[in-house]
Amino acid sequence: MIDVLSRITDKDELFRLLDAMATGQNRRIDEAEFRDHLDGRVRGQSHVTADAARLIRLQWGKQSRNRPIACLLLLGPTGTGKTELAKALASYLFNDEKAMLRFDGPDLAGAEAKSRLIGLPRGYVGWESGGAITRPVLNNPRRLILFDEVEKAWPGVFDLFLAMMGEGRLTEQGSNKVADFTQSIIVLTSNAEHEAIGRIQDEVEDPDERTDAVKKHLRDSQVFRPEIVGRFDKIYVFRPLDLRAIADVAALKILAVAREYDVEIESVDPALIVEAMRRGNKLKDFGARELERVVGEMFGESLMAARDADVRRVRVAAGPRGELRIEGATARPAAEARRSR
Ligand SMILES: Nc1ncnc2c1ncn2[C@@H]1O[C@H](COP(=O)(O)OP(=O)(O)O)[C@@H](O)[C@H]1O
Ligand SMILES: [Mg+2]
Repeated sequence: MIDVLSRITDKDELFRLLDAMATGQNRRIDEAEFRDHLDGRVRGQSHVTADAARLIRLQWGKQSRNRPIACLLLLGPTGTGKTELAKALASYLFNDEKAMLRFDGPDLAGAEAKSRLIGLPRGYVGWESGGAITRPVLNNPRRLILFDEVEKAWPGVFDLFLAMMGEGRLTEQGSNKVADFTQSIIVLTSNAEHEAIGRIQDEVEDPDERTDAVKKHLRDSQVFRPEIVGRFDKIYVFRPLDLRAIADVAALKILAVAREYDVEIESVDPALIVEAMRRGNKLKDFGARELERVVGEMFGESLMAARDADVRRVRVAAGPRGELRIEGATARPAAEARRSR
């Protein structure tokens, strides 16, 4: 069949316009569904996901706006789901994680970071390619923009944040085109001062007082300039994950690896989940960060073997020495196995 759209027009651009049209008509977010989506990916942080779902639903519903849809600061220890939340927001709101633009603080640590983001002045070599943030937003303004570990970025970069979060605009150097951020969500993450901030979170009960105390601490410890702290719609503090939440993340990762090998999991021996957690535990930092790698190492081989044997559903048991044993496997009908190749 001939793809007529590709033949006669720029299909990507057309689809972008259609998407924009669809959201123009459909400005409602189903909060319960949105929240389920976030909770499905970010475990053990329901105080954050519930509030974020509500805030973004309200902002999303506004007819006009001269600022981004939301500017969020995510604080807390490493490996607690901050980046994961940004991804989950992007995939739900913009239908695609690829709508997320991600910048890492350590990559923006030098003075050249500013021209990397908004382009070089006209005349400099490469000025035509524009900025790493302005160009993609000029092409498609419906984005989630993530600045991870932002405290490590060059201080001059924060002037760009002020313009982006305050007026919802940034001018590209060289081209002088104005990138519009009023359809974007801006997310900054930081694990700076997470111990002190965690204590505030535990000690101050009233939510408003707590937010004020966190803001004051960020200003006093000079992690952020006061005017930056004032620009966020919300500051969320992620909690350290307890063992049950980490087990939950391990289970998600096991299901994800199985999907990659096109095998369904019927059950997993709890001892194997504990073993994955134990291996993921780097010294004192019992986080979730290493789980993906560890689970891949522990389960990948057996799942691939099952798939190669045309097995579609597996029970993963622990052998006497803690090794993996695939049991109760159901072979799939040959025709289906061929189809999925
Ligand atoms: N609360 C959580 N829920 C689900 N997965 C998590 C959670 N915390 C960490 N992870 C997993 O651990 C890894 C690191 O998480 P990430 O969100 O990047 O942590 P950070 O808080 O440092 O940004 C990812 O693979 C992520 O899927
Ligand atoms: Mg992160």
